[in-house]
Amino acid sequence: MAGRVAGKVAFVTGAARGQGRSHAVRLAQEGADIIAVDICRGFDNSPAPAASPEDLAETADLVKGLDRRVVTAEVDVRDYEALKAAVDSGVEQLGRLDIVVANAGIGTIAPRLDRMDEDLWQEMIDVNLSGVWKTVKTAVPHLLSGGGGSIVLTSSVAGLKAYTHTGHYNAAKHGVVGLMRSFAVELGPKNIRVNSVHPTHVNTPLLINDMTFRLFRPDLENPGPDDLAPICQTFHTLPIPWVNAEDISNAVLFLASDEARYITGVTLPVDAGSCLK
Ligand SMILES: NC(=O)c1ccc[n+]([C@@H]2O[C@H](COP(=O)([O-])OP(=O)(O)OC[C@H]3O[C@@H](n4cnc5c(N)ncnc54)[C@H](O)[C@@H]3O)[C@@H](O)[C@H]2O)c1
Repeated sequence: MAGRVAGKVAFVTGAARGQGRSHAVRLAQEGADIIAVDICRGFDNSPAPAASPEDLAETADLVKGLDRRVVTAEVDVRDYEALKAAVDSGVEQLGRLDIVVANAGIGTIAPRLDRMDEDLWQEMIDVNLSGVWKTVKTAVPHLLSGGGGSIVLTSSVAGLKAYTHTGHYNAAKHGVVGLMRSFAVELGPKNIRVNSVHPTHVNTPLLINDMTFRLFRPDLENPGPDDLAPICQTFHTLPIPWVNAEDISNAVLFLASDEARYITGVTLPVDAGSCLK
C-alpha cells in the first residue's frame, strides 16, 4: 500500500473523538495501522461532555473503512499498567510499533493559580503531563525493538505562552515541552525522534462547550459558538477563530513520516500566528 506512513503502526491516545480520532484517521489514510485508546468517560471538573465507547468504536470503523487494521482499548493514560497491557496487546496483534501520538488531554477552567484547589491541579498534572510520560514509557520498548520511530506529543500554544484561568493547564503543557526535549536527547541516539505540536484553539468539544462560551461571554445569557468566535479570533494573526482537527493531524502526519526524518526536539505551533502576539 502506498502512503506517507505505509506499513507503519501508530499508537494514538485520546482517539475516541476530536484531534485523536482525526490523527488516527489521517495516519490510516496514509497507510498506518492504528492502536487507538481512550478513557471513554467524563471528568467531574471538565466542561466537555464525556467521550463514549461508541465514539471509540466509530473511530475504529473509520480506520477499517480505509482498509487499515485497528485495535482499540478503553484505558486511562494515568493507569500505567492498563496502558502497557493495551499497547503490548496492540503490538502483538499488529506486529510492530513505529509512531506514538500522545494526544489525550483535558481542559478545565480554574481560578487564579494561588487560589486553585489541589484536586484540580493534581488531576490536570496527572492527565496532561504524567499521562504523556506514561504513554511514551509504555511505547519505547516496542520502538526500540523496531529500530526506531517517531513520537509526537500534543502540547498547546499554552505550552509556549500563558493564558489566564488555565494556570494548571499552562504548567502541564509547558511540562510536555520538557518531556519532549528530554526524551529527544535520551532517545535520539536510538533513532527515535520526539517532537511536540502546539495547537491554538481547535474546533473540538474541549473548546466548543458551554463553560467556554460563558467564560468568554459573561455579558450574554445564552452564549454559543458564534459569540465565542470573535473573541477567539483576537488571539490570532490570521483571520480565523479556530483551526480544525485535521490541521493538527497534517502536522502530526508530517512529523511522523520520513519526510521529517532529521527533525527532532522541535516545538511546532499550528496556531494561526497566535505566538506572534
Ligand atoms: N481543543 C483545543 O482548543 C486544544 C488546543 C490546544 C491543545 N489541545 C490539546 O489537544 C489534545 C486533544 O484534545 P481535543 O481538542 O481533541 O479534545 P477532546 O475533548 O475532543 O478529545 C480529548 C480526548 O482525550 C480523551 N482523554 C482525556 N483524558 C484521558 C485519559 N486520562 N485517558 C485516556 N483518554 C483521555 C477524551 O476522552 C477525549 O476523547 C489535548 O491534549 C488538548 O489539551 C486542544
